[in-house]
Amino acid sequence: MHLTQEEESILEGDSGPTLKKAMEILTTLGDIYGADSLIPVKSAQIAGVSYKTIGDAGLEWISDLEGTVVVPSILNPAGMDLERWQEMGVDAEFASKQASIIEAYRRLGVRCECTCTPYYIDKELAAFGDHLAWSESSAISYANSVIGARTNREGGPSALSAALIGKTANYGYHLDENRIPTIGFEVDCKLTGADYGALGCLAGAEAGSGVPMFRLSSKPSDTELKALGAAMAASGAVALYHVEGVTPESGQQEFPDETIIIERRQIDDVFDEGCGKECKNGYGDGNRNGCGNEPDLVALGCPHYSASELEEAARLLEDHTPEKEVWICTSRRVRDANPGLVRRIEDSGAKVFVDTCMVVSPATDRFGCVLTDSGKAFKYVPNLCGVRARIAHINECLAGEDSN
Ligand code: F3S
Repeated sequence: MHLTQEEESILEGDSGPTLKKAMEILTTLGDIYGADSLIPVKSAQIAGVSYKTIGDAGLEWISDLEGTVVVPSILNPAGMDLERWQEMGVDAEFASKQASIIEAYRRLGVRCECTCTPYYIDKELAAFGDHLAWSESSAISYANSVIGARTNREGGPSALSAALIGKTANYGYHLDENRIPTIGFEVDCKLTGADYGALGCLAGAEAGSGVPMFRLSSKPSDTELKALGAAMAASGAVALYHVEGVTPESGQQEFPDETIIIERRQIDDVFDEGCGKECKNGYGDGNRNGCGNEPDLVALGCPHYSASELEEAARLLEDHTPEKEVWICTSRRVRDANPGLVRRIEDSGAKVFVDTCMVVSPATDRFGCVLTDSGKAFKYVPNLCGVRARIAHINECLAGEDSN
């Protein structure tokens, strides 16, 4: 890989041990993936924030770093709402370790806004054609596919390295040739809301790390595209997809010859299937989702809810108290910009948590079964929290006693 004189000197350690380490990470990745050079990035989104996922080793690694990031950089969700962690049921020891992680990132100049939807809080972070170093899989998918920016699936350390150096290695989704669709999906029924998460569960499993292109019978909204991409990043490793006539690069692409047809029946099956985990509550088989269990937590906001999704939740919660504990996860910025919606939601007894989510928080682990409107949470909660999950449309998730 070609390095400039300045990059060589950083690699030699002339700018200190932290930048040397960061440059080593970037150049090693570049060499492995055949990059020709480093390219400037507009922003970084850094995963590896929850103490649940990085533990003491991660905390120690970040705490030892010195210096300041040189591009706008923000964090992925942490393991708790940084203010309301006790309401979530997080213990004091975890909270203290989590606060230390946030503080370590703050010392490096990272904006301690913990969200997987950075595109809702600052449009400057990513625009069409920008090169980025983002590391949360749904955010990567949204940036590449819906915004038309360019990022690889960075790990936490490589995103942080890019933030410190201001560059990333030029390979993968930064290059036009890797943005060409590899597999087509035709869907001949109308989809709405959580249908897109269910479609993502099916398509991601088929596409693996390929680039899907969709031909749809309905036009998805941006939040539906967010749900589709997030689910494909969880059931497969999809970082970029195109939707004919909808996403910004779709007009430059040919629909692939290899095409899979998806029918309504397959989408419905995702809602009807269980998640395949043993039921913690000891329920047997029997109901329509094959496990007989009753969800004891409704968890929405994976990826973090937008203002329009909060609005929908507020409308559905009007005039009734949900039977189950309800968490709605969003970013601090979206919450603070919508105090009226948050008040309407919380008046019903539901909780709006920020900085965190149901997957990366240890607080989810005490539940038996999570009901969610997200294809990604449906896939991840069983595997990462050891808790069963069901997927349903938002109106079913938030239904009151009368509506069941
Ligand atoms: Fe975001 Fe957590 Fe889902 S990080 S995409 S809400 S698993």
